[in-house]
Amino acid sequence: MPRRPPQSALRFKRRLLRWFRARGRDLPWRATRNPYRILVSEFMLQQTQVTRVREYYPGFLARFPSLRELAAARPGAVREAWDGLGYYRRATNLHQLARTVVAKHGGELPSDPGTLETLPGVGRYTAGAVASFAHERRVPAVDTNVARVLQRAFRPRAPKMNPSNNAIWALARALLPKRRRTAWEFNQALMDLGSLYCTARRPKCQECPVRPACGTGSRRSP
Ligand code: ADE
Repeated sequence: MPRRPPQSALRFKRRLLRWFRARGRDLPWRATRNPYRILVSEFMLQQTQVTRVREYYPGFLARFPSLRELAAARPGAVREAWDGLGYYRRATNLHQLARTVVAKHGGELPSDPGTLETLPGVGRYTAGAVASFAHERRVPAVDTNVARVLQRAFRPRAPKMNPSNNAIWALARALLPKRRRTAWEFNQALMDLGSLYCTARRPKCQECPVRPACGTGSRRSP
């Protein structure tokens, strides 16, 4: 049975969403719900900073505008388009994934996280991210940054958690807003908070928009 979220969780969500609607980052992969485009952004963002992905993302999509076009490409062409991003294993997986989706899923990316996870290069986080960001499925997407934000806000005294802890996924699920569109915003907002304020080192609690509702920030001085 889902537990009713505590009052502090409601305050946290309200503050986070209000801030995100006013100040969330305007990123190219947020202006689309095209599953292929979102998938490409998530593969790139797995090991590369947002600023760098922003530079390479349009070029890659111009060269391979659809999953079918990517599937039909030569491996060398995919690698070339990935040039500059590094960690080429991601490009190989993405290419393989496109071929698998054409062969086994009629060319349509699945929307179910469990099915997405069976595809090459797709782990629990990427499956959740594609399901939420492309299909607006009401599912959590916990990467290292999101785990850190949630732990600081709600589990400040627990041993250090990361995306391999089921407990952090359960917490993220319990917090998800009811409406699909709002759950989409919530997942994106956690990412922005993690990279703009709730950074791994030297978090900016003083300026943080959710500070009064945070289990770490509200106890800090000043
Ligand atoms: N990292 C992975 N996915 C992201 C997203 N949608 N926005 C910002 N950073 C991300």
